[in-house]
Amino acid sequence: MDKIRLLIVDDVEDIRTQMKWALAEEYEVFEAENFSSAMELFETHRMPLVTLDLGLTSDPNGVEEGFRLLAEILRFQPETKVVVITGQGEREHALRAIGVGAYDFFHKPIQLEELNVVLRRAHHVYDLERENRELQRNASGDSFEGIVGFCPSMQDVFRAVRRVADTDAPVLISGESGTGKELVARAIHRLSERGTGPFVAINCGAIPENLLESELFGHEKGAFTGAHARRAGRIESAHRGTLFLDEVGELPVALQVKLLRFLQEHRLERVGGRQEIGVDVRVIAATNADLDREMREQRFREDLFYRLAVVRLALPPLRDRGEDVTVLAKIFLERFAAENKKTVSGFATDALEALPSHGWPGNVRELENRVKRAIIMAEGRKLTAADLELGSAPADRFRSSTLKEAREELERDLIRKTLRKHNGNMTRTAAELQVSRPTLYELMEKLGIRKPDRATA
Ligand SMILES: Nc1ncnc2c1ncn2[C@@H]1O[C@H](COP(=O)(O)OP(=O)(O)OP(=O)(O)O)[C@@H](O)[C@H]1O
Ligand SMILES: [Mg+2]
Repeated sequence: MDKIRLLIVDDVEDIRTQMKWALAEEYEVFEAENFSSAMELFETHRMPLVTLDLGLTSDPNGVEEGFRLLAEILRFQPETKVVVITGQGEREHALRAIGVGAYDFFHKPIQLEELNVVLRRAHHVYDLERENRELQRNASGDSFEGIVGFCPSMQDVFRAVRRVADTDAPVLISGESGTGKELVARAIHRLSERGTGPFVAINCGAIPENLLESELFGHEKGAFTGAHARRAGRIESAHRGTLFLDEVGELPVALQVKLLRFLQEHRLERVGGRQEIGVDVRVIAATNADLDREMREQRFREDLFYRLAVVRLALPPLRDRGEDVTVLAKIFLERFAAENKKTVSGFATDALEALPSHGWPGNVRELENRVKRAIIMAEGRKLTAADLELGSAPADRFRSSTLKEAREELERDLIRKTLRKHNGNMTRTAAELQVSRPTLYELMEKLGIRKPDRATA
């Protein structure tokens, strides 16, 4: 795992070097000599720990610049633990610093061993406070950031989310449709130090290919017909936050190259632009495609894959989550019953039996939708297997009674079948059905069709 980031602010180079030398094994050390270089580093890296020499020389008579920096750091990120360092006999400065929020103080000359103890403790406190905030947020339910999962494999996922949240490492989330990939991406964002920054999601498959580049990278005025004004892309608008690239397997190869370049350099050029812009984003990508196979078939670049998949999180399908199915069903039941002011109080026995044995091809989303529909339609006080449309297959080919419903049912069947045939590949499915890819997405949204998992389809 990454080392803890520590910012050392001191105007004397020798002292910085000495401290760095002593601390580099345990910390990722950043150094700054004055207010502006310190803030520049801090805004980018948001260190949990800072040591700050209050007497910076650009301010020979005093400590005001040091105090200004202390205040600015804490304003920017109140959780950071700042250890101030003062000259001998400057007790009043030390106390004043504590008064405005410094974590601890130290008098010169610095005893590095002692400083190390103080820093370790400071980080420990930082961690505790962070866990505490997290607990408070979750106090409302037994979920992790709103994600329900009691089975061991989901608990593993939560542990991994906590661990990666702290870093800036790119994460690739894989899992079948409706397994909670976006939910997990948002949780990582919220728990990370970027949590107060933007979370920008883009579905790479839902935007027509010819618009995707400018959507991602932005464009300059006049870059192409219709580009009436300069526009920042989604990547830019995620500055200091998290960019969520959903369905990343659908990214056209030309854009894969451009994205890779951005990930390597953290700089981009808007379409039609000449100037490079630096953007600080953490990238989380999601896919329900089998990217290994996409790579073998040369539809997905290997170099991009390894850039995106520094950390891989695989979400298990609902059918492998044991009792979670029932827990989730109950939570959805309570939620939708309350929303619809229905007095449905639980599940009938046949429903409780049918829930875990159903295959749940659409995973949590399917479960959610079924419970929602059942609540709206149900007449009794308990939802039955029939309310949930589980178990017995319909006798008629068409359950629908109107032409519109029958048409939709037919469309639904055909799209599902074609998707399966092409292993969930949207481009090829759209081609065979002779519609555009965005139209296909729209239809699927309208008809409530989720993409099949390519690996198992
Ligand atoms: N473990 C969970 N606990 C509670 N709700 C969940 C859980 N997993 C998924 N959901 C809900 O199921 C729905 C689908 O989740 P989400 O959109 O994150 O899935 P996804 O993997 O991104 O799906 P897709 O591949 O279709 O984009 C959402 O409404 C989400 O709130
Ligand atoms: Mg999704």
